[in-house]
Amino acid sequence: MSDPTFTFTAENEADTARLGGALAAALANGSVVALVGTLGAGKTRLVQALAAATGIDPATVVSPTFVLIHEYAGHRPIYHFDAYRLKDDDEFLALGPEEYFDGAGLSLVEWADRVQRCLPDEYLEIRIDVTGQTQRLFAVRAVGASYAAAVADLRAALA
Ligand SMILES: Nc1ncnc2c1ncn2[C@@H]1O[C@H](COP(=O)(O)OP(=O)(O)OP(=O)(O)O)[C@@H](O)[C@H]1O
Ligand SMILES: [Mg+2]
Repeated sequence: MSDPTFTFTAENEADTARLGGALAAALANGSVVALVGTLGAGKTRLVQALAAATGIDPATVVSPTFVLIHEYAGHRPIYHFDAYRLKDDDEFLALGPEEYFDGAGLSLVEWADRVQRCLPDEYLEIRIDVTGQTQRLFAVRAVGASYAAAVADLRAALA
């Protein structure tokens, strides 16, 4: 079986932008991406790169920390969640996340580890570690067999 994990070192923001573009190409409609990493790790920066590759002005993409979800209309919709300030799972579930997760767009969840139990059975997990001023280590992992192809595509595009 192919390795379900792909690690990518971004030396700078241009590399992160490349990863975002490759993700946009690799992910099927209805995909869910769980973004995990500390404050300032680069979760929003990666969503911006993915949005740019989807025909969305990246300047309109900011952490939806207070409103919890932003929707952007590109070649396909992007649903951008942020669980940072959530009180509990119920507050997240009140947004009706399944409808977004099952929809025609891409769902991206910042601070996904805070709503782990609300995620679908299968999703793409991206953990971001800050390893230098502009260096970031991205660990991309398929949770569930249906994301293995996306990880393989990413590896082929970026390795
Ligand atoms: N290689 C890189 N990739 C991504 N961001 C980088 C990189 N190098 C430097 N940065 C900087 O790191 C910061 C990342 O901020 P960003 O808002 O994306 O973090 P975040 O993980 O969404 O944080 P928060 O949890 O506060 O929403 C930005 O200031 C960006 O310019
Ligand atoms: Mg953010």
